[in-house]
Amino acid sequence: MAGDGPIIGNVTDESAYVSEAGLAILIDGFVIEKIGPTEELLSEYSQVEILDLEGKAVIPGLVDSHTHLLWSGDRSREVSWKQQGLSYREISQRGGGIAATVIPTRTASDSELAHLGIERMRESLRNGTTHLEAKSGYGLDTESELRLLSIAEGISAIERLPSLDLTWLGAHAAPMDNSIDSYFEEILSEQLPAVLEQGIARSADVFCEPGWFSVEQSEEILKASRVGGLDLRIHIDEFVDGGGGALAADLKVSTADHAHYTNDDDRAAMHASGVNAGFLPGTPYSMGEEYPPFSKCIENEWAWTIASDFNPNCRTLSLPFIGSILVQRNEIPPIIALAACTRNSALTTPHPSGLVHGQIKEGGIANLNILDGPWWQSWCLQPGHSPFAATMLEGEMIFH
Ligand code: NIG
Ligand code: FE
Repeated sequence: MAGDGPIIGNVTDESAYVSEAGLAILIDGFVIEKIGPTEELLSEYSQVEILDLEGKAVIPGLVDSHTHLLWSGDRSREVSWKQQGLSYREISQRGGGIAATVIPTRTASDSELAHLGIERMRESLRNGTTHLEAKSGYGLDTESELRLLSIAEGISAIERLPSLDLTWLGAHAAPMDNSIDSYFEEILSEQLPAVLEQGIARSADVFCEPGWFSVEQSEEILKASRVGGLDLRIHIDEFVDGGGGALAADLKVSTADHAHYTNDDDRAAMHASGVNAGFLPGTPYSMGEEYPPFSKCIENEWAWTIASDFNPNCRTLSLPFIGSILVQRNEIPPIIALAACTRNSALTTPHPSGLVHGQIKEGGIANLNILDGPWWQSWCLQPGHSPFAATMLEGEMIFH
C-alpha cells in the first residue's frame, strides 16, 4: 500500500491498494518479513513452512477503534421505549441509558467482568478484529473506573485474543446519585489523579454532548488529562451539533467520534488539525436513525474511520456488519469502507508492539484475515455471519 497517512477522498485507482492474485507473504514470528510473487519467494526461501490459501483473498486484520468493552447487564427493554419515539435523552431520564448499566457493572465480580470481556474479544476476533480500543465508563466513580481499567489490563495479556488499547472514559455520564457538575469536580480532583497514578489508560475520552458534559467541562478534563500524559479522544455531536467539533480541532485530539451532526466548518477545522472523524454507524442503526455523512467526507477529502461502538445500546462487535451498512446501505465503495476500519482506524489506536498495523506491509505486524472466497469485497457483503475462514493474529493462524 502506498504512503502511510490515512486514505482520503475517492479511491479512483484500486490497484494502488489491491494486489493481483499470485503473491506470497513471508511471516517471521509476528512480523511480515516480505511480500512478493509466490515463485520468487519460494525459490529464495526454501526452508519455510508453507500455508496454501488456495486462492482465497486476504485483507488486513480489522482495527476497531471505538468500543465500550466492559459492562454487565441488559438494556433490551429500552427497545420498546425507542419504538414509542422516546429519544436517547428521554430514555436516560426514565432510568435507562448509561446510568442503567452502571449498577449491574458495579455489582458484577471481577471474574464475571473479565469473562464477559474475554467472550467479547473472542467474538470480535471471529469477525476479523485483531486490535480494539476499549473504554471504561460504566463505573462512574473512582474505585469502579479504576477496577474496569485494571480488569481490562488483565485480559489484554491473554494470548490468542486481539490486542487492546485502553481509554479512560470516567466522564461518560453522571452517576445516579450525583449531578454532572459535582461529578465533574470529582473527576478533576479525585478520579483523574487516581487514573494517572494507576498508569493503565493510554488515553482519555469525554462524552461531550448537550445534556451530558459541556464543551467547557470537556475541555478542562481533556486538557488536564493531556498534562498528565494521556492521549485524547472525544465523543461529539451524537444527537445535535453541540460545538464539540471546534473543541476537537482546538485540542487536536486523535479522533472525534460519532461526529454525526458536526457542522462543515468544524469538520474542515478538524481535518486541518489532523483530527479524525470517527463514525459509529451501528448506533444510528440500533436506534433507527439516519447515517452520518460519509460521502461528504469523501468529497471533501476529510479523514474518517468507522468502528463498532460496541455498548449496551449497540450490541455488535462485527466490523464486517458495520462495513455492510456503508456498502449495502450507503453506496460507499468496499475499498473505502475497508480503509476506514483498517489503515485509517489503526492510525488512531497504536498497536502495543509499536509496529504498523491495519495494513499488509513489510515490517508490519502479521495480522491478516483470510476470506472464505477469492474476492476481497466479500468482507462486507455477509452481514450476520463472519466472512472469514481464518485470521492470522500476530503470526499465529486461528481457524474460525
Ligand atoms: O458512544 N453516547 C455515549 N456513549 C455510548 C453509548 C453508551 C450507552 O448507551 O450505554 C456511545 O454510543
Ligand atoms: Fe462510544
